[in-house]
Amino acid sequence: MNDRVDTKVTQAAADLQQSAFFMPYTANREFKQAPRLLERAEGMYYWTPEGRKVLDGTAGLWCVNAGHCRPKIAEAIAAQAKKLDFAPSFQMGHPIAFEFAERLAAIAPKGLGHIFYTNSGSESADTALKVALAYHRARGDAVRFRLIGRERGYHGVNFGGMSVGGIVSNRKTFGTAMLPGVAHIRHTHDPARNLMSHGQPAHGGLEFADDLERLVALHDASSIAAVIVEPVAGSTGVLIPPKGYLERLREICTKHGILLIFDEVITGFGRLGTPFAVDYFGVKPDMFTTAKGITNATIPMGAVFISDAIYDTFMKGPDGMEFFHGYTYSGHPMACAAGIATLDVYAEEGLLTRAAGLAKYWEDAIWQLKGSKHVMDLRVIGLVAGIELNSREGAVGKRAFEAFTKAFDKGLLIRVTGETIAVSPPLIVEKSQIDQIVSTISEVLTTIA
Ligand SMILES: Cc1ncc(COP(=O)(O)O)c(C=O)c1O
Repeated sequence: MNDRVDTKVTQAAADLQQSAFFMPYTANREFKQAPRLLERAEGMYYWTPEGRKVLDGTAGLWCVNAGHCRPKIAEAIAAQAKKLDFAPSFQMGHPIAFEFAERLAAIAPKGLGHIFYTNSGSESADTALKVALAYHRARGDAVRFRLIGRERGYHGVNFGGMSVGGIVSNRKTFGTAMLPGVAHIRHTHDPARNLMSHGQPAHGGLEFADDLERLVALHDASSIAAVIVEPVAGSTGVLIPPKGYLERLREICTKHGILLIFDEVITGFGRLGTPFAVDYFGVKPDMFTTAKGITNATIPMGAVFISDAIYDTFMKGPDGMEFFHGYTYSGHPMACAAGIATLDVYAEEGLLTRAAGLAKYWEDAIWQLKGSKHVMDLRVIGLVAGIELNSREGAVGKRAFEAFTKAFDKGLLIRVTGETIAVSPPLIVEKSQIDQIVSTISEVLTTIA
């Protein structure tokens, strides 16, 4: 690094201390004193302003599934910006929104091909919860108002998703503003029995799912509208469902007329080696939520995939507006253009299933970390890995955060959540890059106390 570049970086850091940007989910003061900036990206890599190349081990934030700055997607966005920048979707329509919905329906699991557009994962979660309430009302059952989430669930930051979510910090800070009528089933993380499981853990699947019966016994099924879970929980540390768990949840929901919603914001669009987790696990919910990879993260967008039965119920209701909900930017033309180009790239390069071919290599590579300093658990599925570390006494998360900053210094972007390092590279990752991810993490772990 030469002197000129150094000066520029120091200047940038000094400037950021006064920056107007109130950063999300960030320790602002710490960050602004020692910023980690990414200035440009291509394929599997980011570059920092000082020109350092950083391998993207997290697909941005689990979202850049086809890798960065794909020309086809960029060109589609640019062309759309010149043709139709915006048009409303309320009582009006534009062809590309319909076209994209058809394309999404074509890759959706059978019977789940009705698309409601949002702009984020959080909005998708809240939209799905509202669809659930409105659906029951539309079929004449307005008594079903309870929404069930799961401990350690993450469904974004809006009031609905936050309420059904099970993130302690959210609940602590915003506890008074949580939705009424929400309950939670137990999370499925069971280190006493399932530590160092390969793939889906063997123990507890039925037992954890049966926890829903406890809530049914307490509240009565007739008051419960829906249950929402992530098929694989990402944000609270890559928690893979134990065997039989999702199947049993499905059974219980069907038995009691409760809608089952999967949050596929992370698992959607190829992360597990199938287009959706629904395909991977072979368990069909009544709706599933998506965002992130839907546009390869180029333009914010989300979508809720809705079953025929739910959609048909709305369409059989009284004349007029069937669902009193929507966002100004639902079906934004540029997001739709980005989404269509993204699906083209996914199809041309087989990315929605590419992770299946890499999964064994990925798993074997990550398992090389078994026995590494600090490593307590490894959880691997598709192209996702959770590497959980032992915590320092009274300092949960500190060690993993140190691993994150050191990895960044060594040219690798990882993500940490609590004491778990989460890795989820773009689906275009090559084996040599998988090796680099693992060797960098391994090196970093030896250097931290
Ligand atoms: C499972 C899940 N649901 C919802 C969200 C929220 O998505 P967004 O940040 O786009 O609102 C996330 C974000 O990581 C997520 O992982």
